[in-house]
Amino acid sequence: MTTDKRFERTLVTSALPYANGHIHLGHIAGAYLPADIYVRYKRLRGERVLYVGGSDEYGVPITLTALKEGVTPQDVIDRYHNAHAAAFAALGISYDIYGRTSWPLHIDTTQAFFSKLNEGGYVEKQTMELWYSEQSQRFLPDRYVKGTCPKCGFEDASGDECENCGAQYSAQELKSPRANIPGDNSTPVLRDSAHWFLRLPAFADALKTWLDSHPEWRANVRGIAYGWVNDLRARCITRDTDWGVPIPLECEDIAGKRIYVWFDAPIGYVTNTRQWAIDTYGDESRWLEWWKDTGTRLIHFIGKDNVPFHAVIFPAMLLGQGDYVLADNVIGNEYLNVFNRETGKSEKGSKSRGNMITVRWMLSKVSPDALRYYLCANAPETKDAAFDWDEFAARYNGELCDVVGNFVHRSLTMTVKNFDNQVPTPGPLDDDDNALLAFLPQQVDAVAEALDTFHFRLAVERFIEIGRRANQYFDTKAPWVTRKTDLERTATTLYVCCQVVRALCNTSAPFFPNAAAVLADVIGVTLPKGGPDGGPDGWNAAKELLPSGAPLKQPVVLFPKLDKDQIAEWAEAHARGEAQ
Ligand code: 2FM
Ligand code: ZN
Repeated sequence: MTTDKRFERTLVTSALPYANGHIHLGHIAGAYLPADIYVRYKRLRGERVLYVGGSDEYGVPITLTALKEGVTPQDVIDRYHNAHAAAFAALGISYDIYGRTSWPLHIDTTQAFFSKLNEGGYVEKQTMELWYSEQSQRFLPDRYVKGTCPKCGFEDASGDECENCGAQYSAQELKSPRANIPGDNSTPVLRDSAHWFLRLPAFADALKTWLDSHPEWRANVRGIAYGWVNDLRARCITRDTDWGVPIPLECEDIAGKRIYVWFDAPIGYVTNTRQWAIDTYGDESRWLEWWKDTGTRLIHFIGKDNVPFHAVIFPAMLLGQGDYVLADNVIGNEYLNVFNRETGKSEKGSKSRGNMITVRWMLSKVSPDALRYYLCANAPETKDAAFDWDEFAARYNGELCDVVGNFVHRSLTMTVKNFDNQVPTPGPLDDDDNALLAFLPQQVDAVAEALDTFHFRLAVERFIEIGRRANQYFDTKAPWVTRKTDLERTATTLYVCCQVVRALCNTSAPFFPNAAAVLADVIGVTLPKGGPDGGPDGWNAAKELLPSGAPLKQPVVLFPKLDKDQIAEWAEAHARGEAQ
């Protein structure tokens, strides 16, 4: 059972990042860190949870990169897939499987989806006019053609979408088109091309009923989803490219065409679940319960630009299969921008501005736990947030280090030193002791409540609050004074402090897995791993008391402070565009 009694298991997905550029902090704050915290929390509770991710390896941007670099698309995806997997592992993003849409198994899953929709009458062929380069003798899908946006006048707009204003339009509407292929900037002509469309309006009623049943979703996601559902049109699901899943039809018209990347990408969640079942159990059928049993709670974590695909189009594709579960929630985050110290303003992270901070660069400077703290405490949940070096240092140093780290360190150091490396035996408890001991389980539940409702900023704030209350208690009780006058009082104080440390240890695990593991070793508790098969409840174990006499190891610094000069140096390197 899960905390929500309607479900027996939770399937969590994070958007599959394109294998066409390094993972940066904006990605992490949107689709990956919140998902990982949620999954780790569920595992710790002993619930059955499966976390599926992978690289999105088809699509026109990848072939364009390959063309520009003079390498093959396979070279591009191998490079970035491996880099993505390494970056996620370094940050502790704990997928049960991190797959690839270039896997042969994915052709099978995608074609099965397409065929089922086709058999159900949900796919139709249409002939459309598309830009064609006579010089390269090929159609120009998506970014293979550039021109002036018909809506905002942006001169570098793509074939069917403007990166500047977000407008979507049909190819004929693009003004002053030009081919965008290395060596070919010719003016293209319009030519007829046959393509296949998903008849989204056929799913309008079912989608509305489903959305109506989820008033609890975030307002941003509901707003975007209803906007789409109220204006559904058939959507092209094929492209003129040779880089993608082959179209499972037998007709001449499919020559030179593949399935559109946005059709196959979310199906990657299914493929990767299949692969996980094969790898884990040697029994492929074990994937079925995760997607087809109504006891599954499916949760998608994404950035807001992906909302239409996860809250409308993919659900329509699932409805068309007839026997899949639909998402119980779609957690769409806003954007993490970058604070520019020179202008004093936040700006969008962009390759051309050179202001992105990649995970691999960042983790060559700071610890994963430090980064996880700031990105969670400053998560773009309801509005855009910005990465700001000064705020990063101030919050990590002032909150995680000074409040939680400092409390744990000073109370354990004093305990170990004065009570023979053991949890002391308390004397009579006074009101302060009782109040703090009563606060702990309440606050553990309050952190859980925030995590269960996907309020990650609030959850980590409530976690820090445990440290704040404990520091006030420590300062009031002043064990460094009572040590000389009243050993029983000191033992009682430090006994209570050990209970706080225990609560902090377990509740920190979803947020700061490295520190939690170190602390668990110091205080001798086991943090159950959990996983797809479930396990013991290590979350509510946070409320259990460490017994007097339990052995303690020498404490270590859990959260080393960031040095201000170093921060300034890194901020300057970032401003020079070196953080990419
Ligand atoms: O926006 C992106 O990075 C896409 N590659 C996300 C795909 S999510 C899912 F559909 F796979
Ligand atoms: Zn525009």
